[in-house]
Amino acid sequence: MAAGIAEVAARGGIRAIIRARSEASLASALKQINGGLSRQVEKGKLDVAERDRILANISTTTDLRKLSDCDIIIESVVEDLTTKQELFRELDVIAKPSAILATNTSTLSVVEMAKVTKRPDQVCGIHFFNPATVLPLVEIVRPITASDDTISLATEFVRAIGKDGVQVLDRAGFIVNALLFPYLNNAIRMLDAGTASMEDIDTAMKGGCNFPMGPFALLDLVGLDTSLSILETLHASFGDDNFAPHPRLRELVAHGRLGRKTKAGFYVY
Ligand code: CAA
Repeated sequence: MAAGIAEVAARGGIRAIIRARSEASLASALKQINGGLSRQVEKGKLDVAERDRILANISTTTDLRKLSDCDIIIESVVEDLTTKQELFRELDVIAKPSAILATNTSTLSVVEMAKVTKRPDQVCGIHFFNPATVLPLVEIVRPITASDDTISLATEFVRAIGKDGVQVLDRAGFIVNALLFPYLNNAIRMLDAGTASMEDIDTAMKGGCNFPMGPFALLDLVGLDTSLSILETLHASFGDDNFAPHPRLRELVAHGRLGRKTKAGFYVY
C-alpha cells in the first residue's frame, strides 16, 4: 500500500520518500512501482519521460529521521494500535512542527494515535483503497482532536494527487469498510452454509451487481490478515454479530493463507 501511495503522490508532482525498516522492503516497493509504470509504458498509457518524472519524485530510506522535512507523513504499517502509537511517538519527535501526521489505518481509532503526540490537532486519517494506484477514493478521517486547518490541508493534498476525497468522522470502519465488511463476512457464511460455491458467489456478485470482483477475490486482494483485523475491530467497536469474523477466515490466516500476497487465500494463485 505504501508503494501505491508514494506512486500516486509522485504522479501528482509531489516529492515522496518511502521509509521502510529494511532495504529488502524498499527494494520490493520500488520493484512494484517500476513494474506497474513499465507495464503502462508498454500499453502506451504513459510515455517514458513521464515515467522518469514520476520515478524521480520518489526516494527511499530506512532512516525515519530523513522524514524531518516532510509536510505530510502517512503511516501505513501493520494494523496494530500499539505499533502505530509507537511510530506516532517517534514521528512526533522527528517531524517538523508544521507537519501533518496521517494514518492510512482501515479501522483503528485515529484519536488513539493523535493522543500520543504533542500535536493532536495535526493528526488525521488519509485512507487509500486497494489498489491505491487505481481506486479513486480517499477517506479523510477527522478525529475529534483535528483542527480545521489539518482537514483542509489533507483535503488539498488529496485533490492535488487527483483522488476523490470524502470526509468522515473517526468511527471504526469509516464509510467503506463499515459497509463492505459485513458483506464480505456474510459471503463466507454463505459458502460455509453450502448455499453456493465460492466461484458461483463471485460470479453472482459480479454479474448481478456489476461489482468489478466477487467477495472472495476481493478478500484475497485486501489480504485475509487485514480483513480479519478489520472485522475484529468493527466487532469490538459495534458489538454487532455481522462483524464477528467467520471461523473459516481465522483458519486460513492461521495457516498462512493470506490472499494474493502469499499466493493463496480463498483461491490459489
Ligand atoms: N495493483 C496495482 N494495479 C492493479 C492491480 C493491483 N493488484 N490489479 C489491477 N491493477 C491495474 C491494472 O494495471 C490496470 O491499470 P491500467 O488501467 O492503468 O492499465 C487496472 O488496474 C485495471 O486492471 P485490469 O484491466 O487488469 O483488471 P480489472 O479491470 O479487472 O481491474 C481491479 C482490477 C482494479 C482490482 C478491479 O477488479 C477492482 O476495482 N476491484 C475492486 C477493488 C476494491 O473494491 N478495492 C477496495 C478494497 S477495500 C480496501 O482497500 C479498504 C481497506 O482499508 C482494506
